[in-house]
Amino acid sequence: MNVLLIGSGGREHALAWKIAQSPRLRRLLCVPGNTGTGSYGQNVPFPLNDSDALVDLAQRENVDLLVVGPDNPLADGIVDHFLAAGIPAFGPTAAAARIESSKAFAKEVMAAAGVPTAQTHVFERAEDALAFARASGQAWVVKADGLALGKGVVVADDLPATLAAIERLAATPAGSRLLLEERLHGREVSIMALCDGQRLLVLPPARDHKRLGEGDTGPNTGGMGVFAPVDDVSPALLDQIVATCMQPVVDELAQRKVPFRGVLYGGFILTEKGPSVLEFNARFGDPEAQAVLPLLEGDLLEVLYECAIGGLHPEKLRRRRGYAVCVVLCAEGYPGKPRKGDPIQGVEALDEEELLVFHAGTQISARGLCTNGGRVLGVTGLGNTLARARANAYAAAERITFEGKHYREDIGQGKDTETRK
Ligand code: AMP
Ligand code: GLY
Repeated sequence: MNVLLIGSGGREHALAWKIAQSPRLRRLLCVPGNTGTGSYGQNVPFPLNDSDALVDLAQRENVDLLVVGPDNPLADGIVDHFLAAGIPAFGPTAAAARIESSKAFAKEVMAAAGVPTAQTHVFERAEDALAFARASGQAWVVKADGLALGKGVVVADDLPATLAAIERLAATPAGSRLLLEERLHGREVSIMALCDGQRLLVLPPARDHKRLGEGDTGPNTGGMGVFAPVDDVSPALLDQIVATCMQPVVDELAQRKVPFRGVLYGGFILTEKGPSVLEFNARFGDPEAQAVLPLLEGDLLEVLYECAIGGLHPEKLRRRRGYAVCVVLCAEGYPGKPRKGDPIQGVEALDEEELLVFHAGTQISARGLCTNGGRVLGVTGLGNTLARARANAYAAAERITFEGKHYREDIGQGKDTETRK
């Protein structure tokens, strides 16, 4: 099979690594790819926003399957273009990807499907949101409706912070519509499932760490690290979340004739009253994919293809025993404006059984391997215990060096990892 993989982050390196294990793979093309994906296939520098040109490329190269990593091309309808040209695609159409690209749409689908989620008020005009918040006299979680690179949510602590967040988000492209949401409390968990429009293949639950600083402090980022599986999500709780929050959304979309094919990724909060949906994404999480894909045994490519054409066999991917901890090594300045071009040492020497190093923001220049983005590398440690996986990841995180390197030291450690009594 010839595969075209879209994206250039650590997630896409992890996907390329796993897809390349399939005996069914003939050729892998990555657009645009990165230093890591280049080891498994051919990187093709091509603009992601020109779907027609991408379809032409796919036809010229006899591509059998499109696999889409990031959210923006999905929202822009890349899958619709490929399907119109008769090329199978792993990823939702633009209409189904609205579960991520419009939070108001997601809320409406959840309400119709009876899925537990925070109470929300949707506003078309910032003035109305301001007036509503003032009249309520309380703090709200303020969300921009559209895609905002993980920067579209403010969990405000009081009314003045709520009002400031409304004004700030209303001025962004994603904030032409705003949501004010009731604040919920509890631990969070990310659950991704591969979907063929009807059935789900549920992947091991993961816990992301979005804040920059240890103990979940500081500004939000794209994700500083993740561990999986999450032991406070028991098999029974996982089944409950899938049955009450994920399958009903898949069924609702199918009933609306916008079947969801691709990765349905739910962000959940485990409240005292039970699990509740914070958001849905329509793609693999990053760095979640870098911890979860290494925990799978089986032919991922075959399963992605089944999702694309319908007829998923969920038993084809099995969960391997043990844990994965992915620590993201970031460049100076991240999550603001990251510095690029710092030489990286110590990656080549790392080739160990319980360690994977995924490239995200790197490039090969005249000075060798250099930083080229905010999230530079994801180091994934594996092990029979969470402690072992963590030790493996952190040993590598220390050995790899570049000027300005920083990372969180508490991924897979502390109260986040304790099993609930
Ligand atoms: P989202 O992109 O909607 O998942 O929001 C990003 C982060 O904001 C989540 O991971 C939560 O930490 C926080 N958040 C979002 N909605 C709520 C809510 N209703 N209550 C508490 N925290 C929330
Ligand atoms: N790590 C969060 C995300 O991929 O949305």
